[in-house]
Amino acid sequence: MKALVYNGQHGKELVEKPKPSLLKPTDAIIRITKTTICGTDLHILGGDVPAVTAGRTLGHEGVGIVEEVGSAVNNFKPGDRVLISCITSCGKCDNCKKSLYAHCEDGGWILGHLIDGTQAEYVRIPHADNSLYHIPEGVDEEALVMLSDILPTGFEIGVLSGQVKPGDTVAIVGGGPVGLAALLTAQFYSPAEIIMIDLDDNRLEVAQKFGATKVVNSSDGKAVEKILELTGNKGVDVAIEAVGIPATFALCQEIIAAGGHIANVGVHGKSVELHLEKLWIRNVTITTGLVSTNSTPMLLNTVKSGKLKPEQLVTHRFSFDQIEQAYDVFKNAAKNKALKVIISND
Ligand SMILES: NC(=O)c1ccc[n+]([C@@H]2O[C@H](COP(=O)([O-])OP(=O)(O)OC[C@H]3O[C@@H](n4cnc5c(N)ncnc54)[C@H](O)[C@@H]3O)[C@@H](O)[C@H]2O)c1
Ligand SMILES: [Zn+2]
Ligand SMILES: [Zn+2]
Repeated sequence: MKALVYNGQHGKELVEKPKPSLLKPTDAIIRITKTTICGTDLHILGGDVPAVTAGRTLGHEGVGIVEEVGSAVNNFKPGDRVLISCITSCGKCDNCKKSLYAHCEDGGWILGHLIDGTQAEYVRIPHADNSLYHIPEGVDEEALVMLSDILPTGFEIGVLSGQVKPGDTVAIVGGGPVGLAALLTAQFYSPAEIIMIDLDDNRLEVAQKFGATKVVNSSDGKAVEKILELTGNKGVDVAIEAVGIPATFALCQEIIAAGGHIANVGVHGKSVELHLEKLWIRNVTITTGLVSTNSTPMLLNTVKSGKLKPEQLVTHRFSFDQIEQAYDVFKNAAKNKALKVIISND
């Protein structure tokens, strides 16, 4: 089968590999019909995730059709159409019992990281019963690819951890796919204002279409003043950090209102400055985390009912043979006005 692999210092390569086979009775083999590329895949190619070794198939998002199941898989059978979660979870360990699937003792984020991932014709999914979801009849499969990772991430680590409430003023720093996912799902809670902050005018324009009430281009270094002006000098009730650099975490600390919540979603490669000397007296809460995808069943229902339309995030489509081209488009997202790319294998 064809697979896109990480090739160490040589970057990525489309190669022929043996089709995966069942290794444990709890495994399933899925034929991938649609997958996508995540910012994290770019981090891997940049050498930022040293646990990924040369020859590893990339990708942790996708939908497909069950090809084969192990003897202990009860919920799925060959022919079922499924959504693959970016987080693998056994459903039985202490952390899974707390819905903290990100820290499953025999799973977590392993796909396209510690085991071969979804940017291939077939993938092996361990603990299939808890790591796959049935695709409801009539639901757009491109929309569901967005549910493998970015929608649960923006929702769980941004909106839920930030405790967005009706009437709140919310700032989202970073209007990439994850920030936009937070923007779409924050609206479940009817905040009064959602201010999107980014450097890219195209992304800010998209954010306005997706429901941002105000946008701030922070490239002039005046974002703090602008946001304080927009909030009558109070600051925002919730600041969602969806970039992952010191400057944007610093911005969140400067715009947070008394009693506010800073929800850090971005993956940080460098340490940040924490201004506890200013924050403690303002009753500010700071949260952070790796997505667990335990909100997936609820998000699936909102897509099914039409309340959530994640297909809006798809800007480009490619066949599997064009996956390297898809990476080029995604890597140069601003130039190509790209958000999420769909790679089809049907
Ligand atoms: N916590 C988790 O479980 C989890 C899961 C998935 C992704 N992530 C992380 O979430 C972050 C966002 O992911 P993404 O795919 O949307 O990334 P992305 O790179 O596509 O988007 C980041 C956005 O931030 C903007 N930006 C960059 N510098 C900025 C600055 N100084 N001020 C304002 N905006 C700025 C960019 O223009 C871009 O629109 C990444 O750090 C990613 O690794 C975390
Ligand atoms: Zn991802
Ligand atoms: Zn577990």
